[in-house]
Amino acid sequence: MYPRLLIVDDDEAIARQLRWALADEFDIKVSTGNKEEVLTLLSEFSPDVITLDINLSGSSEGNEGLGLLPEILKANSFVKVVMITANDTKDNALTAIKNGAFDFYVKPIDTQEISIILNRAVHLKRLEEELYLSSRTGDISFAGIVGKSGPMLEVFSMIQAVAPNDFTVLVTGESGTGKELVARAIHSMSPRRERPFVVVNCGAIPENLLESELFGYKKGAFTGAVTDKKGRFELADRGTLFLDEVGELPLHLQVKLLRVLQEKVIQPIGSNRDIPLDIRIIAATNSDLKAKVGAGDFREDLYYRLNVINIKLPPLRARGDDIVLLAQYFVDRFSSQIGKKISGLTDAAIKRLVSYPWPGNVRQLENTILRAVILTQSQFIDADTIIFEGISARPELSLSLPDSLKQAKEMVERMLVERALKKADNNISKAAKILEISRPQLYQLMARYGMKETQA
Ligand SMILES: Nc1ncnc2c1ncn2[C@@H]1O[C@H](COP(=O)(O)OP(=O)(O)OP(=O)(O)O)[C@@H](O)[C@H]1O
Ligand SMILES: [Mg+2]
Repeated sequence: MYPRLLIVDDDEAIARQLRWALADEFDIKVSTGNKEEVLTLLSEFSPDVITLDINLSGSSEGNEGLGLLPEILKANSFVKVVMITANDTKDNALTAIKNGAFDFYVKPIDTQEISIILNRAVHLKRLEEELYLSSRTGDISFAGIVGKSGPMLEVFSMIQAVAPNDFTVLVTGESGTGKELVARAIHSMSPRRERPFVVVNCGAIPENLLESELFGYKKGAFTGAVTDKKGRFELADRGTLFLDEVGELPLHLQVKLLRVLQEKVIQPIGSNRDIPLDIRIIAATNSDLKAKVGAGDFREDLYYRLNVINIKLPPLRARGDDIVLLAQYFVDRFSSQIGKKISGLTDAAIKRLVSYPWPGNVRQLENTILRAVILTQSQFIDADTIIFEGISARPELSLSLPDSLKQAKEMVERMLVERALKKADNNISKAAKILEISRPQLYQLMARYGMKETQA
């Protein structure tokens, strides 16, 4: 099958030249640049690559092709666009590259040269599609989100459906279910993927700082505002803004957020100029926003603005075999990170995992498996290393492991030494045997963690 090339050019001579020169290599269609026609061809002909004349109507503006570019990329984020430009519109071509065009080519056209560029574009497009497909239909995950259960497949198809457009998405689900992962997946599959993904944790930033974090300020707006500062809305321009824990947003900022969503402009603190914004909003919450609306803690109009599309993440306990899939995935990941050769989990360990309700969801499973991987001395992880801790649905209250592997190891090491000593009634030889280390090694560990040899 030939790669498909769409030539968008109102200059008949150029279109004819390209068509004639490339007919042996490409399946070709030509459009004079009518927007409707181009968009129809995009969906019906599904080109791999497009040559787009930057100066379509031959007007003095010379940038109609530039205006068409975002429309094309919005309709199909994989297609590669090569801008065709005259030397005097080269600056526009650079702008086009910034806006997502693959390359530009300055007339007059050398057919051999352009053929090389187009083939390179097709090659890259195929690679990107392959990568995307393998992440989508890959054995166990979708855009890095592991899962094969019915409810998760539904989540994946929603992500896929909402990613290409700009709808506001509200991601809901218990703590640790992967809400941020979903938000990132939507961004990375959207036409905005080359632009920033900016996170605002509405619950973690102190209320008095939140407004200036979000909106930014002008120099002199208040004491301490010694320079202009861009807010996160502005930093996310042309990208995605992720409003995490949006239920924690104080009421007066809810009003301001609503205005941003409605009017798509912001005013930094101390400024009276509207700055236009092009952002996509994804919000997440693990609280019942509807109930907050009922209690008067969350504005109803904002709730409806955010809740255009709701992606509900099921709790881990409702995902069936995904528990095993995820456990195996984390075993592979952590054991290779630590450099341990662990092949998997014993039946007893799996039984223990699937019969547990996982109040802390995937995050808790992740921590549990990390702990087990650190503890395990054999090829398979057994039930006795599966320790449920931090059984709190609120992450800030949970006894979860630190991010640092070194600290986590020390924590576990200390825990095990204490446990062995207790089991052995403080008999050093016995404890060393339980731990499968020598007596001097145990003494060393006890000294490191400041434990004294006490009489039982
Ligand atoms: N399906 C999954 N596949 C792989 N990793 C996952 C999956 N779901 C969650 N995780 C991992 O679990 C952890 C928690 O996920 P995430 O931070 O997205 O949850 P959350 O819903 O935002 O939690 P919270 O409400 O506490 O903020 C992260 O380390 C994430 O990478
Ligand atoms: Mg989160």
